[in-house]
Amino acid sequence: MTTITHIAVDLQNALAAAKERYTQANPASLAQHKKAAKVLPGGNTRTVLFSDPFPITLTSAQGCHVTSLDGKTYVDFLGEFTAGLYGHSHPVLVKAIEEALKSGWVRGGHIPQEEELASLICARFPSIDQIRFANSGTEANLYAISAARAVTGKNKIMVFEGGYHGGVFTFGAVPSPLTAPFDFVRAPYNDWSGTLKLLEDHAKEMACVVIEPMQGSGGCIPATPEFLRALREWTSKHGALLLFDEVMTSRLAGGGLQGVYGIKPDMTTLGKYIGGGFSIGAFGGRADIMERFNPHNPGYFAHAGTFNNNVFTMSVGAAGLRHVFTPDVAASLTSRGNALRERLNAIASSAKFPMQFTGIGSMMNVHMCKERVLSIRDLQNSNGALRDLFYFHMIEQGIWCARRGMFNVSLPMGEAEFTKVANAVASFVDKYKNLRM
Ligand SMILES: Cc1ncc(COP(=O)(O)O)c(C=O)c1O
Repeated sequence: MTTITHIAVDLQNALAAAKERYTQANPASLAQHKKAAKVLPGGNTRTVLFSDPFPITLTSAQGCHVTSLDGKTYVDFLGEFTAGLYGHSHPVLVKAIEEALKSGWVRGGHIPQEEELASLICARFPSIDQIRFANSGTEANLYAISAARAVTGKNKIMVFEGGYHGGVFTFGAVPSPLTAPFDFVRAPYNDWSGTLKLLEDHAKEMACVVIEPMQGSGGCIPATPEFLRALREWTSKHGALLLFDEVMTSRLAGGGLQGVYGIKPDMTTLGKYIGGGFSIGAFGGRADIMERFNPHNPGYFAHAGTFNNNVFTMSVGAAGLRHVFTPDVAASLTSRGNALRERLNAIASSAKFPMQFTGIGSMMNVHMCKERVLSIRDLQNSNGALRDLFYFHMIEQGIWCARRGMFNVSLPMGEAEFTKVANAVASFVDKYKNLRM
């Protein structure tokens, strides 16, 4: 008992000291936070960016680096939670932005680039016959889920523990009072027998099963291909739709993880990087489902959104997919990301405390546990305070990453950035080797 208290104090002391150094090192961000807190609750308008004791404010970004109000430059391993795939100043994207700027951007009419971006996506995803654009991944999921209910005439939506499909679709360990009031059935991720039981209990009412082929916000936890295939089989047999949320994972291959596994969902949602760094969401899928949105048809589903086809998103998104993020580039980024994760895991495995990086390709997440992570249930023993300490250490070492431990590799990164993050992880493992866990 005495030992446990002593260990807890050790870690808490180290964390308190790290926070103090952080506060001392970032006075301009602290002052900005205090100013913002007068008009924004907690000085914040996007929860995931909040970080206690206060978040660092960024003033500019270039290549794969971001610079803070305190004048510090970081290697950007956050990559805007996967939306920053291209980095911050890719010349092809800059040119597309300049052209959009010159052409005028609030036209209130169809523009050629919406067809271009749609064609590029449909050509890459065999499951997406047709697509419609929205302004965020959240909105795309809202439309996709609503469409699934309307098309099937059923009410229940299966989601998974640890799943995240937008701010009003979060299914983490702590339920959110803001979750949209659909009739959700929450199933255990990667646990087929637990999931099957729930599917059978609700078979007649199941409109749709929504799943991330790898949970991103949940901590980069891949679904096993067998689990995804079992869902595909069950939904086909029972007249429910299978919706893959590939808002994050679509970057892992030219045709997303569905392409890698050869599974065709009925609907797919996309977002993040496909707008080249501008606001976007998209939902698409089988022609017979998407055709319901065709305004030529009587009784069509209306789908609105002032900025659905905004000039910047459509132009820059299309330029990025056509000229930069080709399927070959996607494959190469994934293999570079896999190599980096293996390198970081080799360092983590030498630590005196439990630590590992999960993920696929350019998306990874640190967890302070050793067991294989197949769902958020396996993270119950992951040490949150140690992960916070890790975060503050990364910031001190000039690595910008998510407080929750997510790292994303962006296209401009190379060996120099990989070595820098590997050295930062190694110095954490070394500095805290006597932190008894
Ligand atoms: C898998 C997934 N779906 C949906 C969303 C929501 O996207 P947005 O933040 O653009 O609303 C996210 C955002 O992180 C996501 O990771």
